[in-house]
Amino acid sequence: MRAVFDATGEVLVVTGGANGIGAALARGFADAGGTSVVLDVARPDREHRGVEHVAVDVSDRDAVIAAVAGTIRRHGRVDGLVAGAAVQPRVSVLETTQEVWQRTMAVNVDGVVWACQAVLPTMIAAGRGSIVVFASGLAYQGRAEAAAYAASKGALISFAKSLAAEVVASNVRVNTVFPGVIDTPQFRAANPTGGEREHWERVTGIGTPEDVVEPLLFLLSDSATMTGSTLTRDRAYPKER
Ligand SMILES: NC(=O)c1ccc[n+]([C@@H]2O[C@H](COP(=O)([O-])OP(=O)(O)OC[C@H]3O[C@@H](n4cnc5c(N)ncnc54)[C@H](O)[C@@H]3O)[C@@H](O)[C@H]2O)c1
Repeated sequence: MRAVFDATGEVLVVTGGANGIGAALARGFADAGGTSVVLDVARPDREHRGVEHVAVDVSDRDAVIAAVAGTIRRHGRVDGLVAGAAVQPRVSVLETTQEVWQRTMAVNVDGVVWACQAVLPTMIAAGRGSIVVFASGLAYQGRAEAAAYAASKGALISFAKSLAAEVVASNVRVNTVFPGVIDTPQFRAANPTGGEREHWERVTGIGTPEDVVEPLLFLLSDSATMTGSTLTRDRAYPKER
């Protein structure tokens, strides 16, 4: 069956959409006919038709609420939220400062909560919406010098399942995605050596941000009759083979 997604007239908010998987998704959603509104502290390195950028730190609740309110003023709707903004400090537990721990939680967990709070009233009023939260295999597997990141992703799995139960009656779906190991700025920063790349190449393969776009478009689409679920990409399986 051919994969075809039609986002004509729809509006997607993508946190962390200036780079990596979020940027590929923002472009893919726009190419499918919709408008992507990226909330990110960084600017994307290239413009793309149908992709707007709002400078926002997702840990700032007021700023997130204001950015989504602006989106609704401009476009009149929000159909989807993909909450991908995250940081991944590489530091041992013993050396994790209060500042590093709290910043990781503030961006990776609080930032998702604020984004959900910002989009939900509109989705609930419309009786329709899809939220996708990024987890990580590290939530289950763990990794040395990645405890804060892994714990933040574990928290998001529980959060998404609970939110899914809360809003199911409003026809708003909340799912989690494990994107697999994907070659992005975050992956490169967290895996700086050739040895680490070789390890992931052997164990899971390394995918591209574009490989995750259609699984995300599926979760955003009405075809995804699932909520409180997890879509797991255990191994890289390139779109272009
Ligand atoms: N790349 C992988 O292998 C992989 C694996 C598992 C999970 N993930 C998750 O997928 C998502 C996307 O990851 P990626 O690899 O594309 O990351 P990335 O680092 O390439 O992109 C993350 C984006 O988040 C933005 N960001 C960081 N802090 C922010 C803040 N305070 N406010 C707003 N924006 C902020 C960054 O500027 C960046 O544009 C993340 O949630 C990540 O944890 C990635």
